[in-house]
Amino acid sequence: MMLCGHRGVASLAPENTLAGMRKVRELGLDWVEIDVQLTRDGTPVVIHDQTVNRCTNGRGKVGDHELERLQQLDAGSWFDKAFKGESIPTLGQLLLLCRELAINVNIELKTYHEDEADLLCHRVSQVIDAGPFSTDSLLFSSFNPACLMLMKQLQPDLRRGLLVERIPGNWPQLMAEPGCYSLHCNFRYLTRAQARAVKQAGYPLYCYTPNKPDKVKHFADWGVDMLITDRPQDYLAAGWPPGSPA
Ligand code: G3P
Ligand code: MG
Repeated sequence: MMLCGHRGVASLAPENTLAGMRKVRELGLDWVEIDVQLTRDGTPVVIHDQTVNRCTNGRGKVGDHELERLQQLDAGSWFDKAFKGESIPTLGQLLLLCRELAINVNIELKTYHEDEADLLCHRVSQVIDAGPFSTDSLLFSSFNPACLMLMKQLQPDLRRGLLVERIPGNWPQLMAEPGCYSLHCNFRYLTRAQARAVKQAGYPLYCYTPNKPDKVKHFADWGVDMLITDRPQDYLAAGWPPGSPA
């Protein structure tokens, strides 16, 4: 079972920053998950919330700020003074660093409104085209099926993962249309029967965001393929997966 740092390593560095990517490398992880939205001037930037309020010293919606202004904000001090001066990275900046560090990136396409999908996907696709990035080093994920459909057209060689909270009954159809590679669900709601069905259908099964190794010990037996967690260091310290040598 693989470990993936959530928003970098959100427990050790300010989320979705370049400092977070360096923590991923320090821990020896192969995968990181990040969130992408557009600035007002249409640049894909790496930030989770719809506003900059929680994770920077600024105020207002991400999509209401020009890139230049966004990158002047301090995206590190809210987490710890040691990270003062971290800025919101563009997707391009982050992918270049991850390529250098040999980290595979799960790019979550974040849309807070249905109509954002088209422009977001086109702009993200342009960043990918400017790479080059190897096809197996990137994966798109989204709660928005329109994003997955668009990415199938724009970047057919890159894998796509369907993000859900609870796995719905019609998950096979939801996976089939955008040609998804993997199913990503909230670990809290996953049942053994669902895990069995997903694995029997041949799909990788990824779970977010279990932060306590004890709570998901049984996931190895259930066939879960990846844990997307804020605290990968705790799993590594516990000799994860259970039963493997520490
Ligand atoms: O990709 C898994 C997870 O990041 C989805 O939820 O809100 O943390 O982006 P959220
Ligand atoms: Mg996310």
